[in-house]
Amino acid sequence: MDLANRTRIVGLLHPGAMGVTVGATLRAGGADVVWASAGRSDASRARAEEAGLRDVGDLAALVDAADWIVSVCPPDAAERLAAEVARLGFGGTYCDANAVAPARTLAMQALISAAGADYVDGGIVGPPAARPGTTWLHLSGPGADVMVPAFASGPLAAVVVSDRVGDASALKMCYAAFTKGSTALLAAQLACAQALGVRSALEAQWERDEPGSSGAAAARLRRVTAKAWRFEGEMHEIAATFAASDLPVGFHAAAAEIYARLAGFRRQPGAPSLEQVLEALLARE
Ligand SMILES: NC(=O)c1ccc[n+]([C@@H]2O[C@H](COP(=O)([O-])OP(=O)(O)OC[C@H]3O[C@@H](n4cnc5c(N)ncnc54)[C@H](OP(=O)(O)O)[C@@H]3O)[C@@H](O)[C@H]2O)c1
Repeated sequence: MDLANRTRIVGLLHPGAMGVTVGATLRAGGADVVWASAGRSDASRARAEEAGLRDVGDLAALVDAADWIVSVCPPDAAERLAAEVARLGFGGTYCDANAVAPARTLAMQALISAAGADYVDGGIVGPPAARPGTTWLHLSGPGADVMVPAFASGPLAAVVVSDRVGDASALKMCYAAFTKGSTALLAAQLACAQALGVRSALEAQWERDEPGSSGAAAARLRRVTAKAWRFEGEMHEIAATFAASDLPVGFHAAAAEIYARLAGFRRQPGAPSLEQVLEALLARE
């Protein structure tokens, strides 16, 4: 049957905190969103079930069923996943929506195109979308505009950056360079003040500068710990993006190291105290 006359099937890899909101948005727009439970955790299963995504079992079955595949996974897993989808002979449209360097998205485009599929570059800005107006999927490449109407019901919105593969990833890298880079700098700053015994004095000065700012800084660090394990890879992608524009890589190489020191907070229930965060930053093996 012609695709125009039947429900589009979209394979979602995978239903993480952000991925599931991509899936829910596509479902709201009328797509049949499928996922592959093989190898995934109970947390992904619970999110997928709550969002009404259809489990097809494994990646091969998903590749077989899907017209489109949207990849929303840890950045350092993105290229391996694209290679596996290409190896399985996917022939539809593949959208990588991960926080990766433009060079990596071009490498994935080459893999996917060699398999005979179309490739759309993507990058997401904002928190997992619970309501409209918070989160945007930037798309680029020939054919990016074809995907936009599928997201029209929200809550996540899709916008086309350009018709050039690489631009959506470049935008994501430039955006996250500051948001996540500055959080890593704040972590290093507070840990250094702690190590030197002047943290209370620093916080007192922040309060003189702007009442409430020391509490806001602590909350920002405590909040980031759950995702820090994933940010290490993203910081390396940003460093590679800077290098390709002949800019210093040191900011984000250091930020990767900061996030690596916080990776142990993955899957811990509740946010740690600021003292626990600083202890992890200052711990030596
Ligand atoms: N969360 C945000 O606030 C946010 C904001 C902007 C952009 N994004 C982008 O969204 C992407 C994923 O974020 P998320 O919040 O959905 O992450 P997440 O909650 O950690 O979920 C990641 C998903 O990928 C799966 N996964 C874990 N390791 C994998 C591997 N090695 N290979 C393949 N899949 C793997 C996970 O499955 P299991 O855990 O079940 O194994 C889970 O379903 C990233 O590229 C990120 O840059 C997220």
